[in-house]
Amino acid sequence: MLTWTLWCGLLFLLWFYFLWSRRRFYLLALKIPGPLGYPILGMAHWLMNREDILNAFGCFLDKHGPTIFSWLGPIPFMIVSDPQVVQDIFTSPHCVNKGIIYKAVDDGAGIGLFSMNDPRWSIHRKLLNPAFGHKVLLSFLPIFNRETALLLDQLKPLQDDGEKDLVPLLQSFTLGIATQTTMGSDVRSEENLMSKSLLDRYQCMLETMTDMCFSPWLNSRFVRQLLGRESHYYQAKTEIRQFIRKLIEKKLAADQKETQPAIKSIDKNIFLNLATDLLRRGVFTWRNVEDESNIIVFGAFETTANAIYYTLMLLAMFPDYQERAFEEIQSLFPNTGDFEVTYADTQQMVYLDMILNESMRVIPPVPVVSRQTSHDLTLSNGIVVPQGVQIAIDIYHMHRSKKIWGPEAETFNPDHFLPHNIQDKHPYAYIPFTKGIRNCIGWRYALISAKVTLAKLLRNYRFKTSFPFEDLYFVEDITMKLKTVPLLELQKRNSYDHTVTLLAKGGHIEEQLSINKPAMSLTDILELNKTELFAKIRDGLPVVQKTQNLLDCKDDLLFAWDAKECCLLVRNWRSSLAGEVSVQFQTLIPSSTVGLEVDRVLASNECSLVALSGPRGVTILELPRRWGPDGYYKDGKARITCRTYSLDTQLFLNNPHLEVRQLRWHPHSVSDSTLLVLLNNNTIRVYNHSKLRHVWQVGPSLHRGEASSSLCDFGEVAVDFDIAPAAKPRGESETTGKNETTLDNSNKTLVAAKSLPKQERIEWPIVVLRENGNIYILMTGVDSEMTRLQGPITITPQTRDNYGLESCALMIIPSLPPTIVMAESNGKLHHALLMEAEAAELSFNEVDDFVLIEPAEYVVHVLETVELELGLAAGGGGGGAASYNCPVYLKRDLINEMRYFAYHNAGLHAVTVSFISELQRYLDSESEEDRLELAASSRAEYILCTKFDSSESVNAVFGLALLQIPAGVVLLLGSGQVISLKLVIDAQLLVTPNESKQAGLDVSQQESGPSFVDTIKSLLQRSVNQPILAEKLASPSAQESYELLNQAIEVLREQYLKRHDLVRAAFARHINQIQLKREQQKLEIQDLEQERELISERAHKLAERFEEISYSQELLVRKCNGLMQKANAALPNNVVAEREFAQEVSRLNTVTQSMAAGLESCKKTLNKQRYHIAKSQEELKKNAYELPEKQHSTITEILTQLTGEIDRQIIDVKRINKIVGV
Ligand code: HEM
Repeated sequence: MLTWTLWCGLLFLLWFYFLWSRRRFYLLALKIPGPLGYPILGMAHWLMNREDILNAFGCFLDKHGPTIFSWLGPIPFMIVSDPQVVQDIFTSPHCVNKGIIYKAVDDGAGIGLFSMNDPRWSIHRKLLNPAFGHKVLLSFLPIFNRETALLLDQLKPLQDDGEKDLVPLLQSFTLGIATQTTMGSDVRSEENLMSKSLLDRYQCMLETMTDMCFSPWLNSRFVRQLLGRESHYYQAKTEIRQFIRKLIEKKLAADQKETQPAIKSIDKNIFLNLATDLLRRGVFTWRNVEDESNIIVFGAFETTANAIYYTLMLLAMFPDYQERAFEEIQSLFPNTGDFEVTYADTQQMVYLDMILNESMRVIPPVPVVSRQTSHDLTLSNGIVVPQGVQIAIDIYHMHRSKKIWGPEAETFNPDHFLPHNIQDKHPYAYIPFTKGIRNCIGWRYALISAKVTLAKLLRNYRFKTSFPFEDLYFVEDITMKLKTVPLLELQKRNSYDHTVTLLAKGGHIEEQLSINKPAMSLTDILELNKTELFAKIRDGLPVVQKTQNLLDCKDDLLFAWDAKECCLLVRNWRSSLAGEVSVQFQTLIPSSTVGLEVDRVLASNECSLVALSGPRGVTILELPRRWGPDGYYKDGKARITCRTYSLDTQLFLNNPHLEVRQLRWHPHSVSDSTLLVLLNNNTIRVYNHSKLRHVWQVGPSLHRGEASSSLCDFGEVAVDFDIAPAAKPRGESETTGKNETTLDNSNKTLVAAKSLPKQERIEWPIVVLRENGNIYILMTGVDSEMTRLQGPITITPQTRDNYGLESCALMIIPSLPPTIVMAESNGKLHHALLMEAEAAELSFNEVDDFVLIEPAEYVVHVLETVELELGLAAGGGGGGAASYNCPVYLKRDLINEMRYFAYHNAGLHAVTVSFISELQRYLDSESEEDRLELAASSRAEYILCTKFDSSESVNAVFGLALLQIPAGVVLLLGSGQVISLKLVIDAQLLVTPNESKQAGLDVSQQESGPSFVDTIKSLLQRSVNQPILAEKLASPSAQESYELLNQAIEVLREQYLKRHDLVRAAFARHINQIQLKREQQKLEIQDLEQERELISERAHKLAERFEEISYSQELLVRKCNGLMQKANAALPNNVVAEREFAQEVSRLNTVTQSMAAGLESCKKTLNKQRYHIAKSQEELKKNAYELPEKQHSTITEILTQLTGEIDRQIIDVKRINKIVGV
């Protein structure tokens, strides 16, 4: 009973002691969340299957947070994916030792850097660090280059031959590099390496070692033998060791032969030289050299091969990024085949760097690393991790954490490494090589070798795979493995293989144009000729070849009049640019028939109405509403009926000679519905929707049937008009006309004068051009009965024949003062300024019966005349005898105030009015001394020529529409051809030239004179330019061809070749100068390069030194702390509390020690007692004597009798005693 109780007590004591000794782990479990797992097993059963480890980790981390605590059997275990905790672990000297899981590595590869414990590890690391210094790595570049060239040769048979497994090839390649860089470049000649048996051995060993890590029972040799895994493993291990030993022996023998080994300073640091030197000096044993060599080769070959393969695989899955990387590499290495990649080249591969980083982020080659605490470790959140805890740092999940990397954390996107994206990430959020005290020794080596390999592979091959990224399944190993390895296809790249990639801001790929694509038509960049819309238009084109305008464009809508079906077609030209056309075009059908022969389509300013006009009337089409995602009319219905009304039908019926000359929407109409129509009877009729509001007389009225009378002969018929910017009337009369429109004080809002009687009245001068070149101005409001006609306006400088007796068009550019453009049908364009007259000028004309001519408030000052070539006539220059005349139409460029277009039977001109910018500059200038110089002459560019012979046949412009953003022009020609061109937005047109010159003119430029570009521009400037020649209807006759050729040759000779010679000479001079400068800069770059190398080398050394120093510092701090504690305890003048505390601690120590000693002696006594008890029991058993039954009963009987006898005697004695009285 006693023994049993003793046993229980003892067991309880032991159990209690066990729990007590682990109390700090339990306390830690209370502070850090995590799965408890099952008793005894902990979470071990979840980690039995390697394929599930990463998933299990992911689930735990999702559930419990980035740092968790649990048990692996009885072992306390943490999983960490929080960058701050990771930093605490990696930078702590108390957490340098690897976890117990790596014990298997010791058996296979030997006890080297990878698994060695501190402090031996820190000594070895310090001794081996120089083998990975910057200069040594640079000396490896020839090996990297040579080996990659051999790899390219090996890949050749695989190209364009379907998908292949490249992993074995890459592993053999990296093993070759690793052995050569560690053991010397003559290893290549070794038989083993060449026969690839070495790779098999390394792989066999790596596999068994990994199995041993995850299945600890395999660490027993006996179990391995039982499972039949020992023989291969042992053979592989032995062969690798023999191979390495042979190399070391060879090296030592070679060194012995040379009495004075002539080793260069770099070579001395090459691993084998360094290791054998340490061996000779007795610092390393043979075993050390073998183990370390083994470990370095192991550390290098599989990780690097995986990093390269996974990068190629990801690029194959994301071809856009592959193309961008290819472009970068191609810019450095224009030719395919083998080329030398230098260290400087690797530094320039910025995008490849981002790709490599991103690849190791998404698939870290080492997904989980392990550590254990050798002392208590205090984390920065205050939690103390006690000694003896195993820690797994989950790099894989940290690299894919959405909290750190954002919503796209799980996909491959190199933009994660753009400087602005990476700068605010925690320094330990990305650690493929780990960081801190025990990081990868070969990280720089790995990056350089991977970049060299990737550059050469990506330059020569395009990698493809059919395996989707989403199907990748990752398996935790010592290195990262894939359950199914995607195969890769190699497509050969050519030297001329070129893909133009346009990149938008932020690095996204916007558009890719392959050069192999069929060339886009140069005269129809929008490819409108192929559209159904223009096919329909072409069907019903007017027969008469005279300029008209059947096209108009407002915002993204292009309108075209279909004369055959009498309806308006509309198409969104911008969406067709983007190639996402769901609706080809829409047909707007007029609600009532349009009986007109439409020659002009004009959309209102806000695009709510479209005016369709012909010589004999005007019809208005009300446009329906636009809605839906693409903003089509009525959400994209193909045919829509629109409300239509004709204006003054009766008037035209009654006046057979009445014709429409011009129509314009009033730009200041609030309702966007005021239309001004100029008729050939010198009236402007003002309509609001269908209502006639006013009829303004702008000249002598023509009486019925008089259209071709003397008035016409004198050219007194108005041919065109335009509306000038608003002006306040001079000598404002107090009376405010009823219903007049005025501007409010802010000058922005138009209001009816009726409601605000005291406000100023605003007039819009309507400038009218008569055929004889006379200009009249009608002063009036938007909607006013009151008008004042003035004219003919004085035009200065005066000329004998006025400015054109064949005037045909007028246009106002709203500059300040307004610019008037007057066109003559002989191609002359007069640019004039509309100036206020100093004093009101009286008209010299007699007063018409119906119109009162008022004194003129304006004068027109002609600044210049530009002459247009109307067709390319033989003899060039346009001034040939047989010059061609035709009406010229004008259209303002809404993007560039300085530019307008003139179109006619012979094509299209773009005219740039240079003085407008000078005017602008002068007005903006605050200096009083500034002078206005209007000398710069305007330019007219012949953009499109539709007439290139002297015959009468024409191919008139039937429509002109100006597109904005991107700027362009669309022309419909009489032949049915559509021309669509991009318009260059010349910065000079947007910014005043002088301003831009001044802004860009720095001191150096002022010193050096005009820039080279300016010089070339001035040399190339020519008066005649070569327009695009529109396609002809029929093939040209021999005469036409001859004229065309003659003209072209002349222009070529005069305008191009001579100038090109001059430009060539200028270029030659410039190139010479640049070459000189380049030579000079090359020299400077060389100097800088050398300096940079020196600096980087120094930086490298400093970094290494820093690492060493920080480690020694850490050791020192530890020692100092110990010393301080001792010193503190010893100091007599300590604070009383401290002293008492120290005493208490030492008392407790003594008590604990004595208790421990007591416990120990107790144990010993217990053991002794156990021994004695057992012994005596045994002896007792031995000496035990059993009586035969008979004797036993006899003895018992006798004894019973004796007992009865004794009892009786006792009674007798007691009686006698009583009697005697004793
Ligand atoms: C992409 C390629 C590489 C990756 C991703 C990589 C990754 C790593 C990681 C994560 C560790 C730390 C392991 C741990 O803490 O448990 C490590 C250690 C190590 N690596 Fe690498 N490595 C690469 C290439 C190389 C190369 C090329 C070499 C040798 C030339 C090398 C030699 C070593 C050695 C010797 C260690 C142990 C260092 C020590 O504990 O002091 N590695 N590597």
